[in-house]
Amino acid sequence: MKSHDHKSAYIKTFGCQMNEHDSGKISILLESLGYRMVETPEAADLVLYNTCTIREKAHHKAISEIGRAKFYKHKNPDVIVGVCGCVASQDGEELFKTCPHLDIVFGPDQIHALPDLLKNAAEKKRAGAVTLVDAPADYVFPDFVDEKKRFKASEFVSIMKGCNCACSYCIVPKVRGREVCRPPDEIVSEIARLVRAGTKEVVLLGQNVNAYQARRSRAGGEMNFSGLLKKISLETEISRMRFASPHPKDVTDELIALYACEEKLCPHIHLPVQSGSTSVLKRMRRGYTREKYLETVEGLRNAKPGISITTDIIVGFCGETEAEFQDTLDMLYRVRFDSIFAFKYSSRAGTEAACDMNDDVSQKEKERRLELILEFQKKVTLEKNEALIGSVQNALVCGTDRMKKGLLTGRIADNRITHFAGHERFVGDIVPVRIIAANKNSLSAEVV
Ligand code: 5AD
Ligand code: SF4
Repeated sequence: MKSHDHKSAYIKTFGCQMNEHDSGKISILLESLGYRMVETPEAADLVLYNTCTIREKAHHKAISEIGRAKFYKHKNPDVIVGVCGCVASQDGEELFKTCPHLDIVFGPDQIHALPDLLKNAAEKKRAGAVTLVDAPADYVFPDFVDEKKRFKASEFVSIMKGCNCACSYCIVPKVRGREVCRPPDEIVSEIARLVRAGTKEVVLLGQNVNAYQARRSRAGGEMNFSGLLKKISLETEISRMRFASPHPKDVTDELIALYACEEKLCPHIHLPVQSGSTSVLKRMRRGYTREKYLETVEGLRNAKPGISITTDIIVGFCGETEAEFQDTLDMLYRVRFDSIFAFKYSSRAGTEAACDMNDDVSQKEKERRLELILEFQKKVTLEKNEALIGSVQNALVCGTDRMKKGLLTGRIADNRITHFAGHERFVGDIVPVRIIAANKNSLSAEVV
């Protein structure tokens, strides 16, 4: 019989940075319970799926992967199979019916329940912990940072969870609940420990990260997002700060002004616009107009010339006319985003759009619009990358290139991925590099 210390665990992660970060926390927790993390599911004693449900395709992908775990269970009935993340939150213990081979189900805020769930599962008791989507106001953000260990050069730090917006297309408020913020001192403490563990850059995380308000935390107080950035800059030795993802309606003048004076704040913002048409934005309940968004972009570029601005676009939202779609293309033309993610609208059960609006743009038309968007942006992204050739940038070296030996991979301050030749000992450092070539989605450089 295998001893407890030698049990192995596998996690497959779908979806956003929030899930990626949660999987990291789950791994640390499992290691503290004596599990060894492995890269493939076939021989693992515990197989977990951390799932996403943002679009129908993501949901299907998760369900079909979970289905495959049947075979592992068939080979070894002692294997424990679990589902967490947003599909767990959405479907709850219903999942036990659709997937009879499942042992545990837990929501994004129930990571701390995992040790108990595992104990039950080992006794062949199926167990779920997806009771509440809304975390209580005294919710404590899990923190497994140990300064005696080595952490990555760039790490995520949760500053808030949940979302109080009511975007009509979006499932997130339903699966991640209402906003709860983390006390400022706890955030600073985690970042200080990360710095001592080798981290140079933090990415502050939240579903609507710039809606941060300390008054929505256990500690209370009046600090907003800009105040938090200043506090982190002042009270820690972190070299770089980023955040994901902000909402355009919550980009304040104060935040824009910070780009002009706060050296540690990286010159990049991912600012999902979703549509360039004011009437579509209204149906989406985004809380800003096309003009307001353009004004925000102008403000950011004035404060920080050369700032990289990236975005998310949804095409084919309920009732989107050709003219409204053209407004989105025109928005891309005017802003010239550094890069974009674009999606076909996908109706999600329980959202306002699914209940009260008509998903009336045909699949074929959605595809055509998506193609046009991607086609246009491809050129702009490449041109923007090419404009950096010859410049010297500071790259944070994240690791060695998986494909080519002797190549390092780093991120320059504006978040572009950059490859260059160099010794492995540079991993974790910030090194100056000269950009020598531009590719579709990355840059090539040489160490200066
Ligand atoms: N259909 C298509 N795309 C969506 N997104 C969110 N909800 C939907 C949906 N129902 C996109 C948005 C968001 C990104 C994370 O996913 O563009 O910014
Ligand atoms: Fe997917 Fe949204 Fe959940 Fe992230 S928060 S995993 S994008 S559904």
